[in-house]
Amino acid sequence: MKISLIGTGYVGLVTGTCFAEVGHDVICVDCDAAKVELLRNGGVPIYEPGLEELIQKNVAAGRLSFTTSTKEGVEKSDIVFIAVPTPPLPDGSVDLSYMEGVARDIAGAMTQYKIVVDKSTVPVKTGEKVAETIRRYCKSKVEFDVVSNPEFLREGFAVEDFLKPDRIVIGVLSQRPVAAMRELYAPFHAPVIVTDINSAELIKHASNSFLALKISYINALSILCESSGANVQEVANGIGMDPRIGRRFLDASLGFGGSCFPKDLSAFIKIAEQLGYDFALLREVQRINTHQMDRFFKKIVETLWVLKQKKIGVLGLAFKQNTDDVRMSPAIDLCQRLQKEGALLRVHDPKAMEKARALLPDVTCVPDMNAVADGCDALVIATEWPQFKKLDVERARRMMTHPILFDGRNLFDPEEMENLGFIYKSIGR
Ligand code: UGA
Repeated sequence: MKISLIGTGYVGLVTGTCFAEVGHDVICVDCDAAKVELLRNGGVPIYEPGLEELIQKNVAAGRLSFTTSTKEGVEKSDIVFIAVPTPPLPDGSVDLSYMEGVARDIAGAMTQYKIVVDKSTVPVKTGEKVAETIRRYCKSKVEFDVVSNPEFLREGFAVEDFLKPDRIVIGVLSQRPVAAMRELYAPFHAPVIVTDINSAELIKHASNSFLALKISYINALSILCESSGANVQEVANGIGMDPRIGRRFLDASLGFGGSCFPKDLSAFIKIAEQLGYDFALLREVQRINTHQMDRFFKKIVETLWVLKQKKIGVLGLAFKQNTDDVRMSPAIDLCQRLQKEGALLRVHDPKAMEKARALLPDVTCVPDMNAVADGCDALVIATEWPQFKKLDVERARRMMTHPILFDGRNLFDPEEMENLGFIYKSIGR
């Protein structure tokens, strides 16, 4: 099938590439000419495991191309995906101006029937507005359908998630686009849920908010574990074995971050407010998340006392493993708090050092993770990169001024670390 993607960010680029991989003809459109040029020359603007190889393969096969022209994308495709940013406004609500702009551009470029699919995360009722906008700005009486098709991929596992989805949600205003949407997704062999467009939009915000709630729940439990001598990982294992609960997303941490959960939670609270409901439960999820970082920071201050001129090593800058994304990263937040108190930071991240530099101007970036702790008064683990578990802890202990380890991701065993001579502080244990 012939598809275009308007917006070549994380979601747009992965979606376009994976559709090409299963045999569709895909044009990715982006208004950023430098990004399009980079992609045309075989470069990839983000780090995402497996993505570069897939892009190269599908470009070479002639199934994937890049352009700055929305008109070209719309003309050459039957299904037009919108995957533009929906950033937060200062009051937490969603800025839909990119969405509206693209709807107008699509309307201006349409000369025959198109299915316009919204992939961006948007407030409920946006699809109706997109349909209204296209109708208003379309010069001739061209027919079209608007579909909501939310995306559930995780950064760092985006290709895998897209190629093996749990479910495909298709929200429609009429039945006409359903057959084409089913055909489009047939190669993925996933369950398809066809629903009304408002439900599809709600599913996305409800899903991310529930996952954030799950993390805040275990983080709140981590407080009880710390004050009672229980172990939050044991508790998570114990409750997670109930299939109604599930073990995933029950890892206590210094809080969730990234470009989705914090933004989507604020948006969902605002959407609820506009619909006349005070979603106090989700405000509590946000509060617990902030409190978790405050608590972790307090542990560092209580242990090290004065932070001024203290040398602190930090492992991890990305908001989670497998990505170079530092947007709303708890690790960056923590580094900035430490710097504000006058600490001198030596940092390492397997992929995110380049992107973190702009946010952390005065840190020493250390290419070798095992050398981060050298000469430090303390070491902090801020991101759950699995390779950090292989840290040469013997060497770290020898090379540090004081062997103090703050583990914000529970990567090590408390007893083992204490036996090695570390003062070891983690979350909920
Ligand atoms: C999230 C959702 O998981 C995706 O399904 C969704 O498609 C995506 O948002 C989106 O809306 O685009 P993502 O933000 O890439 O994906 O990352 P997650 O893997 O969900 O992690 C989010 C944050 O929660 C990270 O900071 C992570 O470290 C933290 N986390 C996750 C925990 O603290 N504990 C856990 O048990 C799991």
